[in-house]
Amino acid sequence: MGVVKFLIVTIFLCSFVNAKPKLPSFLKVCHRNDPKLKECIKDSVERLRPFLAKGIPEFDIPSCEPLLIPEVSIDQGTGSVAVQSNYRDIKIYGPSKFTIKNVKIDLDKNKVRIKLWIPHLEISSVYTMSGKILMMPIQGTGACTGNYTNIDATVSMDGEKVKKGDELYFNVKDFLVDFNVGHAQIRLDDLFNGDKELGEAMNLFLNDNWKHVASEIKPVMEDTIASIFKKFSNKIFHKYPIDAILPE
Ligand SMILES: *[C@@H]1O[C@H](CO)[C@@H](O)[C@H](O)[C@H]1NC(C)=O
Repeated sequence: MGVVKFLIVTIFLCSFVNAKPKLPSFLKVCHRNDPKLKECIKDSVERLRPFLAKGIPEFDIPSCEPLLIPEVSIDQGTGSVAVQSNYRDIKIYGPSKFTIKNVKIDLDKNKVRIKLWIPHLEISSVYTMSGKILMMPIQGTGACTGNYTNIDATVSMDGEKVKKGDELYFNVKDFLVDFNVGHAQIRLDDLFNGDKELGEAMNLFLNDNWKHVASEIKPVMEDTIASIFKKFSNKIFHKYPIDAILPE
């Protein structure tokens, strides 16, 4: 679900882009000295929502309904959740239904922080898993689905200004994602080679303990997603100078 933050950041970055060169007209320009800069950013993101749902080819932004992630692997060697798992063809439904709670910008320190809330995400993928969760052996491969509700997320970008030619560009050095899920309902099909009874029991167990399971997996997910989005945001930042992205 941290993937969602990628989107939000994408939206956020795009909302900064000036209409000067060949930039699309649906981007609202925000001026860095606007005393209502935060409101401007929130506003431009609201305007972008339908474009994000469809995708924005000009910015290499794919459709986010659903958002697609080819593959994520998690290798937890030790601890109460010691599993090797792989998820392919991840589809995330619902990320465009976000609400921006707060925007914080410190231009001098090159820091941006966005807090947002997402009411509901439905995620499906094809999983392969083996290991132990809270002492219980787990093994299987098949469809993995889940509903995640009441999600609070924070995206933090820490960057630097880099001179190229006559222009200053922004470069993101650290990209951090943090999310907290209010509730999760998950389902792993075909656990234990399709053994129905064992599979049902394990699904009950996982859902009873979802908070614990999620907290073990969370850092890996956050890092994976953050690195994808760091690359992505730098693609945009390296293309347009700061004066074009955030004009005076
Ligand atoms: C998620 O919610 C949808 C409908 O809202 C439901 O059809 C589906 O079974 C749910 N999935 C899980 C794993 O609970």
